[in-house]
Amino acid sequence: MIQLHDLRFEPFISEERITASIDKISEQINRDYKGKTPVFLGILNGAFMFASEIIKRFEGDCEVAFVKLGSYKGTSSTGKVDTMMGLNMSLENRHVIVIEDIVDTGNTLAAIDGILKSKDVADYKTVTLFFKPGAYQKEYNVEYIGMEIPNDFIVGYGLDYNGLGRNLSQVYKLKEQ
Ligand code: IMP
Ligand code: MG
Repeated sequence: MIQLHDLRFEPFISEERITASIDKISEQINRDYKGKTPVFLGILNGAFMFASEIIKRFEGDCEVAFVKLGSYKGTSSTGKVDTMMGLNMSLENRHVIVIEDIVDTGNTLAAIDGILKSKDVADYKTVTLFFKPGAYQKEYNVEYIGMEIPNDFIVGYGLDYNGLGRNLSQVYKLKEQ
């Protein structure tokens, strides 16, 4: 059990399970992008740890870019997505792979879709480590999903509660207080 700020969290997903699902997704990405030079687009802050693991496992040439978006406050979505750091490279005619830590309501994906539609990309796909089907309210395809999880609030492996918990190498979920 761990405490972050005022809340307690209990172990939920081990590092071994996370690594196994990253290995599996990476095999699919390597197969699908063989011979292409994709641009991995990581969504900061949450996706930094997952992004580095996915990118390390990519077997061909690739480029890397990041944008910083934010929509969560405390343990819930504000429903509004702010851009804290935008895109500073051209993505025209590129194959983009969006890397998310977790897809929850889908508001962040909607914002990304808007950004990429205006950039004339060749195509884009989305990879997320975690997906909450019970919270998802959009229709965007999420092509590569590490794990589906219930509507619990989780921390660790890049995900935070008000700034804390990103450095944890396994995932914890909010404990009934
Ligand atoms: P969405 O825009 O509602 O899909 O939420 C996506 C973003 O909210 C993610 O990229 C995370 O940064 C954050 N988020 C969603 N669920 C959680 C959670 O359970 N713990 C920590 N952050 C979360
Ligand atoms: Mg995020």
